[in-house]
Amino acid sequence: MATTALIVAAGKGERAGGGMPKQFRLLGGKSVLRWAVESLGGHPAVQSTRIVIAEGQQANAAVALEGLDVGDFITGGATRADSVRAGLAAIHGDAVLVHDAARPFCPPPVIDRLIAALEFFEGAAPVLPISDTLARIDGGLSDPVDRSDLARVQTPQAFQLAALRSAYAQWSGPSPTDETTVVRAAGMTVAAVAGDPALEKLTLPSDFVRAEQWLAGRLIPRTGMGFDVHAFAGGGPILLGGIEIPHERGLAGHSDADVALHAITDALLGAAGLGDIGQHFPPSDARWKGADSAMFLAHAAGLLRERGAAIDHVDCTIVAEAPKVAPYRDAMRARIAQIAGLRVDQVSVKATTTEGLGFAGRREGIAAQAVANIRMGL
Ligand code: CTP
Ligand code: MG
Repeated sequence: MATTALIVAAGKGERAGGGMPKQFRLLGGKSVLRWAVESLGGHPAVQSTRIVIAEGQQANAAVALEGLDVGDFITGGATRADSVRAGLAAIHGDAVLVHDAARPFCPPPVIDRLIAALEFFEGAAPVLPISDTLARIDGGLSDPVDRSDLARVQTPQAFQLAALRSAYAQWSGPSPTDETTVVRAAGMTVAAVAGDPALEKLTLPSDFVRAEQWLAGRLIPRTGMGFDVHAFAGGGPILLGGIEIPHERGLAGHSDADVALHAITDALLGAAGLGDIGQHFPPSDARWKGADSAMFLAHAAGLLRERGAAIDHVDCTIVAEAPKVAPYRDAMRARIAQIAGLRVDQVSVKATTTEGLGFAGRREGIAAQAVANIRMGL
């Protein structure tokens, strides 16, 4: 059975606010639309994914979906149903999963249940029971409503493509808010399968807060380590942990030779599996000659946040016989926190000598080690 995921993303998202249509807003560093497309398109039962967007939203959609195989965008209409109709006219195959872009997280088992039900029914939809008391409002609180035979109906909804097209062709009522309404009105049967709270629609501003919290709870702790050495050469001062420190010797390096910032940058990149500092800022590139290492650290922290990662803590040990680090420790912590967008209590700077042993002990250079703890999505 060739199944197409048809994702409707042509709404204005007026109730959600936020200054742009909600499907293009970011959740955990990724657009709502991209979450939805990846969660349906990544299911093995889905052969192709097509997106319906509003006129004039091509640029937003292209940014949101960069690198994903979603074919040409389909132009939607004034209502959700108009957008679905436009999508149905543009797709092929035996079955369709019609889905709201505003429901970014679709657990794969929901799709398994829908596809299984399509063997026996023209359509299937995920539903959830209602657990609150339901009551009419008539000026004030009025009569309760019996909820025993009521359910909340979510998307994605699965249909035989021919059945859904035929049902829409027969529909003459007011604009429906989902497809089960249309298919049932045409006399066909829609199975109810178990829905999932993760499929809750983003409708109001508070829904975005809830979704961010839900995502944060799913982040996995990861640790990265960094290590760097620079040799003394020429005259001081030196830059260490983003702070200028008077010293009779300077540090040699292509950039400003701040070993502490380099080690922390590498620890962050390592935690996220994003390579190392040399890969992002090759020493062979003249642009980074004498570069302020604050830029490297800020870039690494930005890359992590773009991926929805939370940086919990960085800890750095500077290995040097001289200069003395202790007088500058708090200034370094404050500066590192500022560069990486952290609180001071999320940054630790320590220092040690090597008791005169090795290159650091012989005062030939300075080394720094760092560890970064982050949380990141799978
Ligand atoms: N939708 C659509 N075309 C429309 C209206 C809605 O494709 N003309 C899509 C929305 O993008 C969303 C889904 O249908 O993914 C569910 O609609 P809703 O939650 O109402 O989204 P919006 O219409 O965008 O929001 P609002 O009603 O608050 O403006
Ligand atoms: Mg709407």
